[in-house]
Amino acid sequence: MKKPATLLGEKNKFLILGCGFSGSFFAKTIKKFGCTVLTSSRSKVRDPNSFVFNSENGIIPDAKIFDGVTHILSCIPPDKTGNDPVLENLQSKLQDLPLEWIGYLSTTGVYGNTKGGWVSEIDQPNPFQKRSHNRLNCEKKWIESGLPVQIFRLPGIYGPGRSTFEAIKNKKIRVISKKNQVFSRVHVADITNAIIYLLQNKNSLKFYQIINIADDEPCSQIEVMQYCYDLIGLTMPKPILFEDAKKELSPIAQSFWMENRRVSNRLLCETLGYKLIFKNYKIGLKDCYSNSQKNKFKNFL
Ligand SMILES: NC(=O)c1ccc[n+]([C@@H]2O[C@H](COP(=O)([O-])OP(=O)(O)OC[C@H]3O[C@@H](n4cnc5c(N)ncnc54)[C@H](OP(=O)(O)O)[C@@H]3O)[C@@H](O)[C@H]2O)c1
Repeated sequence: MKKPATLLGEKNKFLILGCGFSGSFFAKTIKKFGCTVLTSSRSKVRDPNSFVFNSENGIIPDAKIFDGVTHILSCIPPDKTGNDPVLENLQSKLQDLPLEWIGYLSTTGVYGNTKGGWVSEIDQPNPFQKRSHNRLNCEKKWIESGLPVQIFRLPGIYGPGRSTFEAIKNKKIRVISKKNQVFSRVHVADITNAIIYLLQNKNSLKFYQIINIADDEPCSQIEVMQYCYDLIGLTMPKPILFEDAKKELSPIAQSFWMENRRVSNRLLCETLGYKLIFKNYKIGLKDCYSNSQKNKFKNFL
């Protein structure tokens, strides 16, 4: 017999640790289910439902913040020393709570460079960058903690307010061409909706501890940029070859071009049955564009 869907509602209290781009989208959405939602940032108490957590200067949330918490989503990356800020500072607190679930937003950087090949959760991680080694260590520590954690590996995140359009508008764009190079991406709404889908169907779906959330169509950065310029109605600047552009890129920007992989979403979308809202960058970027005021994109090149 099919087990009933888990209803998210008033009885649930979510802590969103690190309420940045993805965390804010998740918080806004999960509130609509009637859940209590408290969010953290490093410096500002934004409203009565927010609090400060900053591992960099040792500001730890007050114990009463944790009263009645059933679910936690951590969106906080490893700190400068490579440790997980949440586990380093709050692990024993979390272990005392009757938590139903913890979500941890990780990155597909842990897979390393597959030279354009597809990667899925069953592939052995093979991190290439130091930061990806750190991330994999954080994932391992979450798993070893014995907490009810589910890890979501994410490729490049975009969405309204953070997409190629903003990069074009802020003139922070270089159109770079590198043969056979692709990037995988995910729209922020699909991160939120996929997680909520998994939570709602927790009783009927097999539990996987590590899940990729990515769209269906990894592709080159130029394709994405060309699409954005066409949508705005502007001419895309002439691409620069990666070898020529490289010296002007920051070390972090360069590092992204050193890895080339296609991230598979088959576990999430085929095995677990999640239906993407934004299957590819075209649909996703149209959403971003319609969320922005078209006028902002006039007369800026
Ligand atoms: N951006 C991407 O394309 C991408 C791709 C794959 C994976 N990821 C990973 O997915 C997660 C969510 O990404 P995002 O882009 O939504 O993140 P984001 O907007 O950068 O938000 C990160 C949040 O973590 C908080 N934070 C950072 N360091 C902290 C510390 N030491 N102590 C306490 N809080 C700290 C930040 O606080 P403030 O609000 O005060 O800044 C912020 O709220 C991150 O782990 C990120 O590395 C990101």
